[in-house]
Amino acid sequence: MKTIRKILVLVIAFASLMSILSLGACAKKDSGKTKVGVSMPTQSLQRWNQDGAYLKEKLEAAGYEVELQFANNEINQQVSQIENMITNKCDVLIIAAVDGDSLVNVLADAKKEEIEVIAYDRLIMKSDAVSYYATFDNYMVGTIQGEFIEKTLDLENAAGPFNMEVFAGSPDDNNARFFYQGAYDVLSPYIDSGKLVVVSGQKDFETCAITSWKTETAQSRMDDLLTANYATGTKLDVVLSPNDSIAIGITNALENSGDFTPGTNWPIITGQDCDIPNMKNIIAGKQSMSIFKDTRTLADQTVKMVNSIVKGEKVDVNDTETYDNGITVVPTYLCTPVFGDINNYKELLIDSGYYTEDQLK
Ligand code: BGC
Repeated sequence: MKTIRKILVLVIAFASLMSILSLGACAKKDSGKTKVGVSMPTQSLQRWNQDGAYLKEKLEAAGYEVELQFANNEINQQVSQIENMITNKCDVLIIAAVDGDSLVNVLADAKKEEIEVIAYDRLIMKSDAVSYYATFDNYMVGTIQGEFIEKTLDLENAAGPFNMEVFAGSPDDNNARFFYQGAYDVLSPYIDSGKLVVVSGQKDFETCAITSWKTETAQSRMDDLLTANYATGTKLDVVLSPNDSIAIGITNALENSGDFTPGTNWPIITGQDCDIPNMKNIIAGKQSMSIFKDTRTLADQTVKMVNSIVKGEKVDVNDTETYDNGITVVPTYLCTPVFGDINNYKELLIDSGYYTEDQLK
């Protein structure tokens, strides 16, 4: 009898050992930790590297196990990375979508596994599997850009007319329309009154949109706009750019044309993200402003969301109306974007420890 009991104990011990060893890399029982999958769109833009790095650091500091992936701006790659995160039994997913419309099926799988999904920075569309959204106030980003142009040209008082060209972000990114609309709502009265003239006539979102926010595409569109509308010395006062990667394309085209010189006839150019090359351009007088979206703030807020989800507590949100993804209005936490230019960048970016002075040299 004793021998049988011993054999039984050994068999049970062996079986439990095997089951522990065969668990996926991220199974909770494996490490005793809750696992969070973080899916970022690309490493080719500075901001997403920072977002990924801060999220990983802060989640790990809060005691989570983290699987971080970048999708090379490829929809299929992001889908298969998320599939792996589901197979690997992640408990929560944080996703900044490459294409907001393309995650419907994979997130249906996540929902079946009762995995909570946080849309990070970009809203995920047409899916009921998105639990929360953490982002910056995207409309306010556009408002700040529009108000900067209004103030710098003194549109309320100056006679004008001023010549402008308009760029918009990627059409597959829900944020892009918010940026565009925020700026356009400030500027459109001046366009309507003729004080601001879009010389090319290209001003609707679709015509001005730059797919995937690509610098090269922005550069070639700006090349075309310059050749068609400004080759005979027509003054260009302002280019509305929704973000920094597009601003770099615009700046390159202006430089290559040989017709524009900073400090003399260089146009006002807006931006967003405070990327390092753009801050250098701001210092050199080739870009007028950017928007600081401190990735540390967004990462902190997202980690707070994860904590509340995991503990089953109420998740802190401050917008339950704006972000309708076509299926549901996603409860959102909006962080505040901050204006940055040559006058405040030191305080904003260097004193806050975001960059070192050397990085901007
Ligand atoms: C982000 C911007 C960024 C852009 C391009 C948007 O979704 O909100 O900060 O510049 O994507 O990556």
